[in-house]
Amino acid sequence: MMNDNKLWYRDAVFYEIPVKSFYDSNNDGIGDFRGLAMKLGYLKNLGIDAIWILPFYKSPLKDDGYDISDYYSILPEYGTIDDFKEFIDTAHSLNIRVIADLVVNHISDQYSWFMEARKSKDNPKRNWFIWSDTPDKFKDARVIFVDTESSNWAYDQSSKQYYFHRFYSSQPDLNYDNPEVRDEIKNVIRYWLNLGLDGFRADAVPYLFKREGTNCENLPETHNFFKEIRKMMDDEFPGTILLAEANQWPTESRKYFGNGDEFQLAFNFPLMPRMFIALAQSDYFPVEDIIKQTLPIPGNCDWCIFLRNHDELTLEMVTDKERDIMYREYAKISKMRINLGIRRRLAPLSDNDIATIELLNAIMFSLPGTPIIYYGDELGMGDNIYLGDRNGVRTPMQWSYDRNAGFSSADSEALYSPVITNPNYNYESVNVEAESRLSSSLLSWMKKMISVRKTYKELLGRGDIKFIEQKNKRVFTYIREYENQRMLCLFNLSRSYTYVELDLREYAGLKPVEAISGSYFPRIGELKYFITISPRSFYWFNLTVPERDDSMDFDEL
Ligand code: NOJ
Ligand code: CA
Repeated sequence: MMNDNKLWYRDAVFYEIPVKSFYDSNNDGIGDFRGLAMKLGYLKNLGIDAIWILPFYKSPLKDDGYDISDYYSILPEYGTIDDFKEFIDTAHSLNIRVIADLVVNHISDQYSWFMEARKSKDNPKRNWFIWSDTPDKFKDARVIFVDTESSNWAYDQSSKQYYFHRFYSSQPDLNYDNPEVRDEIKNVIRYWLNLGLDGFRADAVPYLFKREGTNCENLPETHNFFKEIRKMMDDEFPGTILLAEANQWPTESRKYFGNGDEFQLAFNFPLMPRMFIALAQSDYFPVEDIIKQTLPIPGNCDWCIFLRNHDELTLEMVTDKERDIMYREYAKISKMRINLGIRRRLAPLSDNDIATIELLNAIMFSLPGTPIIYYGDELGMGDNIYLGDRNGVRTPMQWSYDRNAGFSSADSEALYSPVITNPNYNYESVNVEAESRLSSSLLSWMKKMISVRKTYKELLGRGDIKFIEQKNKRVFTYIREYENQRMLCLFNLSRSYTYVELDLREYAGLKPVEAISGSYFPRIGELKYFITISPRSFYWFNLTVPERDDSMDFDEL
């Protein structure tokens, strides 16, 4: 049964899923809600508390569902409203919450609203969109899909005006200055929350309102609108949450928490690329620096920390120099790039090095915030950079070494996407069944880490973080603290063996116990604490008050 803790999102581990990619229950080659419901046991077993499902609404799929053509219906291939409800009920019976994408900056040009609007300049729906006689307004609004679009305006032949679109030209932006639009979007929200959703991941949050003379991002009007939505959700659907997709510099992204009255969660976009930069340079500075810039936040809010998602690894909010480092290190082939980013999964970005994958996850699981795992990354799934757009990171989930990786019994040609067969990542060995059998697999390790994280409250969102200053820039070092519990975390970002000398006098008398294996380490004293650390490896040390005779330590091993 669902617990009624209103702060549930603070202790949760999230998991991101495109419905079409998870499991195909009726063998038409496309994943669906029934299939998703059948696989909830797997997620429960992994330790997942909440799922984020990607857009499942009716759509011509020109942007994989982020182009909605009817807010009130489900894409038939994914199932019926009853299948959706059944899926939510099953998730809730396992105490798993479900949030879904709320895509309200724009809709599909196939939506009846837009088809009406473009009929004539005096159509009642005309003012639901943003029109202009010239493409010159809002000049300072950047183009986001730079590989495909050269302007944020597209010409509508039938009504002889331009309409504004922040993404593909097939995705006209809604006009938020129109109160009818704002009311309708509130109805959309109510509709899905009434069907049992636990909240939303709000898409493209910064762009809702536009104003001449600004870059049309993060405007006060946009913040106010989300505050109104939050209030409505708190009043009418207590316990539901809003997660912001606001890919911005730290000063702007922090503002989406408001005073604890806007979003409960926001993706930590500034942090994510800097984790990869820190690895590339064997220097923790970029990560520590950005965390200092993104804290503190209001007490009822958390950063959502992620390593990868269904989009390219975006490099919009980094300096030119940092972007060069990222391309040089992680996108050596031009096909690996799209727009201002890198379309690769976590395992290929890590050169399929399990120590690197584990190191990144261990950082994610121990920084203050709510971690979110992208489906398949718990297995070390590969990608296919030749599939176009961002499809290479959206291939079928790999369940077993059966046909189609156990995802579907359709003919392989009928699958919405080919499975990964590259020998380094072949589904025949990278799959749930095979990895469940091996205690040494990435999947088994992820499961273990999630359960360890859950036993130490200081690792969760509400714990404080204290950076330990020391001279070795290769080793990222901090202490997480909550009430009287402490976890000392050390990560060797480099590919060499190294050591640190830590000034831990403040903790003298405490005894580090390695949290995953339970191994005892020498007590902390007045001298510098000396510790060696292998390449790309890490320690989580629970700092305990010794209750026993230390001379027995080795007998315990
Ligand atoms: C962000 C989504 O994550 C991405 O997949 C989509 O293309 C754009 N928003 C436009 O909705
Ligand atoms: Ca299906």
